[in-house]
Amino acid sequence: MTTRPGLFVSFEGIDGSGKSTQARRLADHLRTEGREVVLTREPGGSAGAEEIRALVLQGEPDRWSAETELLLFTAARRDHLERTIRPALARGAIVICDRFADSTRMYQGLSRGDLRAAVDTLHALMIGVEPDLTLLIDMDPAAALTRAKARATAEERFEDFGLPLQERMRAGFLALARDFPDRITVIDGNRAPDAVAKDIADTLKAHT
Ligand code: ADP
Ligand code: TYD
Repeated sequence: MTTRPGLFVSFEGIDGSGKSTQARRLADHLRTEGREVVLTREPGGSAGAEEIRALVLQGEPDRWSAETELLLFTAARRDHLERTIRPALARGAIVICDRFADSTRMYQGLSRGDLRAAVDTLHALMIGVEPDLTLLIDMDPAAALTRAKARATAEERFEDFGLPLQERMRAGFLALARDFPDRITVIDGNRAPDAVAKDIADTLKAHT
C-alpha cells in the first residue's frame, strides 16, 4: 500500500490535440514507476456519466443549447467525481483525467455566447475541486481538426462545429493558462508523440 497522497492530473486542449494519446502514455509511464494510476475521461468515467456522454457527443450540433449542455456535463462530472475520482484519490492513486472542468469553461462557457459566469457558479456549487496539475496540449487548430476527423467515430457533434470553434477554443485555453499559471502547464503538441511525452513526464516529475 502506498503512503503517498493522491494526485489529480487533467489533460486539456482542442479536439485532436493528442490528449488521449498522451494521457495513456503518461499512465503507462507512471505505472512502470510503481504508482497506482486511474486513467479516466470526461464526459464519462463512471457508468452514469458514460450514458450522459452518448447524449452530448452524438447527434446534430444544435441538439442541445449551451445552457442544457452545461447542466448535462455538470451532472456527468458530479457522478464521475463521486464514484471514480474521489475514491481513487482517497486511496492514494494518481488520477489522470482526459478533460475536466476547463473544457466546460471553454466549450459551454465560450462557444455560443458568454456563459462563463454560469459555468463558474455551477462548478463552485456542485464540483468544487480543481486538478493539482493541468497539462494543456496546445496545437495548430487546422492540423488538430484533421487528426480528429481522421478518427471517424459517432462522437463528432463538437467536431462538426468546425475550424472556427477550434480556433476560439485554442485562444480560450491559452488565456485560461495565463489566468491559472500555477495549475496549468502549456505543452507544445505540434511535435512527434515521443517529444510531447517526454515534456509531460518531466513536468510530472516536479509534482510526484
Ligand atoms: P485528442 O484526445 O486530443 O482528441 P488523440 O490523442 O485522440 O487526441 O489524437 C488524435 C489523433 O492524432 C489520433 O489518431 C492519434 O493517433 C494522432 N496523434 C496523437 N498525437 C500525435 C502526434 N504528436 N503527432 C501525430 N499524430 C498524433
Ligand atoms: P473528447 O472525447 O475528449 O474529444 P476529443 O478526443 O476529440 O478531444 O471530448 C468530446 C467533446 O466534448 C469535445 O469536443 C469537447 C466536449 N466537451 C465539452 O463540450 N464540455 C465538457 O465539459 C467536456 C468534458 C467535453
